[in-house]
Amino acid sequence: MNNQNIKSLTRPEINKMKEYSPGKPIWEVQQELGIQEVVKLSSNENSLGVSPLAKKAIAKYTSELHRYPDANTTNLREAISSHYDIHNDQVVIGNGADELITLISETFLEAGDEIIVPSPSFSEYEFGANLMGANIVRVPLTNHFHYDLRLIINTITDKTKIIYLCSPNNPTGTYIKKDDLDTFFQKLPQNVLVVFDGAYSQYATSEDYSNGIEYVKSGKQLIIIQTFSKIYGLAGIRVGFGISSSEIINCIHKVREPFNVNTLAQVAAEAAINDIKHVDDSRRVNEEGRNYLYNAFREMGITYVKTMSNFILVDFKVDSLSIYEQLLKKGIIVRYGGVWGLPNYLRVTIGMEAENRALITALKEIIE
Ligand SMILES: Cc1ncc(COP(=O)(O)O)c(C=O)c1O
Repeated sequence: MNNQNIKSLTRPEINKMKEYSPGKPIWEVQQELGIQEVVKLSSNENSLGVSPLAKKAIAKYTSELHRYPDANTTNLREAISSHYDIHNDQVVIGNGADELITLISETFLEAGDEIIVPSPSFSEYEFGANLMGANIVRVPLTNHFHYDLRLIINTITDKTKIIYLCSPNNPTGTYIKKDDLDTFFQKLPQNVLVVFDGAYSQYATSEDYSNGIEYVKSGKQLIIIQTFSKIYGLAGIRVGFGISSSEIINCIHKVREPFNVNTLAQVAAEAAINDIKHVDDSRRVNEEGRNYLYNAFREMGITYVKTMSNFILVDFKVDSLSIYEQLLKKGIIVRYGGVWGLPNYLRVTIGMEAENRALITALKEIIE
């Protein structure tokens, strides 16, 4: 069958879509460059590693893998609901937050609907809309990469179904202040659903930050999405969750595959959310790394965007592709900002002390 025939069989929405391009994995760089020491600061993973309690839980359950997982993810939903002090029927678990974005899109979007997304932000929101044939309306962040919530409200039309907010925002690390969210929810029309992506919320230390849960509790029309891939250190096992009213969660359950979250992911996530020490250590390592990198960038005269997350958007004032490529040759993987229309920027994940030092040493060699 030739390409033209395949195209005519495929849904028009799919023909317009492009495959996701992930950051380079370590093994690929090792193979390409023939080097062993590779530092990966490109996917905002937890540099401290997997939650030790999750590791133990995984080891305990490997002998149960001939059984199907719990289709209702009962224990994990219970652990999450008690962590956030909500009811367990307000929680849905997904194969990563990515799957939740797809499930939300499949549940609520039809061809011709509109979603509003901040720009630049996480690309999967657009993936979900493209999959369903919905239109994407991008609302730019301000010059300093902050949200303009008034502009978002003014952009709503009678076709708007979903507004995505990502706070702290990927790739900028900026966040929405609680007062601004209060005003936003007061002005939000009843027939628009907000999806609040708090993938990095556990890293946010500012007092005026909100992870959005309070708005679910006060009955606002929103879904929080969260992941175990970041501070909990479980990116490789794929697990995330959504929190909303039980009515909205029930609708999403109808779209979900029965066994969408494997057994090891369920038990690992349940252990990780209760691994207080690992979360505290991760936050501390992140803050130390953030301060080290801020100082190093300042000393080098490099501008950066202040972050509430585990990555920093760094401004090189000129196209940074060559810096990205030279870093790669030295075995350091970061993310080139061109993918978000920010060619002068690199996004670097905050790593362990040695990784951060390796980044700065390499940057000094390249730039100076
Ligand atoms: C803002 C944001 N939301 C969601 C995700 C997806 O998380 P998961 O690994 O759980 O699919 C990411 C991953 O990088 C992210 O940056």
